[in-house]
Amino acid sequence: MTIAAVSPRTGLSELAVSNVSRVFAGSAKSQETIALQDASFTARPGEFLSIIGPSGCGKSTLFNIIAGLDTPTSGSVAINGSPIVGQQGHVGYLLQKDLLLPWRSVLNNVVIGMEIAGVPKTKAREIAMPLLEAYGLGDFVNHRPDQLSGGMRQRAALLRTILFNRDVILLDEPFGKLDAQTRATMQEWLLDLWDDFQKTVVFVTHDIDEAIYLSDRVIVMSPRPGRIIADLPVDIERPRKPGIVTSTEFITMKASILALLHPSNNQEVSP
Ligand SMILES: Nc1ncnc2c1ncn2[C@@H]1O[C@H](COP(=O)(O)OP(=O)(O)O)[C@@H](O)[C@H]1O
Ligand SMILES: [Mg+2]
Repeated sequence: MTIAAVSPRTGLSELAVSNVSRVFAGSAKSQETIALQDASFTARPGEFLSIIGPSGCGKSTLFNIIAGLDTPTSGSVAINGSPIVGQQGHVGYLLQKDLLLPWRSVLNNVVIGMEIAGVPKTKAREIAMPLLEAYGLGDFVNHRPDQLSGGMRQRAALLRTILFNRDVILLDEPFGKLDAQTRATMQEWLLDLWDDFQKTVVFVTHDIDEAIYLSDRVIVMSPRPGRIIADLPVDIERPRKPGIVTSTEFITMKASILALLHPSNNQEVSP
């Protein structure tokens, strides 16, 4: 599939998050929630970076800040060195809750980013159709989202995010609700998509295997107030086969992430 013909490879953007904190004010001082504390990391151009951490540690808050839907209490976010705090439209963002519009067909959902950007409807469809076909949704373009399986809906939502055509893509637990088999298929599909489009991807998950399998680097967060407690390179060559989950490198890395996420169980998980 000559995807480059419809969407030029970009992905040459770097995302830098520097000392970002977010405090949600309560009605009294004691009710303040420190959702995120002093988070810093850089996603290099074309890198696949995962963030893993317990529920409530500020992962979605961090994404909302990067996407300009929320502003940090302190800290900065930049793409290729230019500050983007408080500005929307610089990144593609797949929210935790997939927000396909139920009254629109799959095709009309997928082209919505281009529509907002002012691309004429026929042109937008011309661009989207080969992709929908290449990624297994060709027979479903006129279906409504509720007529699709969970995996297909997520594929449509991912394609829509990609077609928003930004170099940096944020994916917030996109496969969290899928069964194990569908999830495995979706992971392969996402790696193909990443390979085809060469985006810089930041991927939130609570699944350690998924984080390691997909990523160039894994960032581990502490429970609330969410802090980054580790930033670990995944030294496993690509392309990766599902069988690598039993390799020594994989298991060693999984043990270190488990130990970071559950420090009280260290003795049980340390090799
Ligand atoms: N708009 C908000 N107002 C007040 N508290 C919030 C708001 N959004 C998130 N929080 C709180 O911030 C913390 C982090 O939330 P969130 O970023 O959704 O965590 P995660 O995505 O890691 O599960 C939670 O305690 C949550 O209740
Ligand atoms: Mg979340």
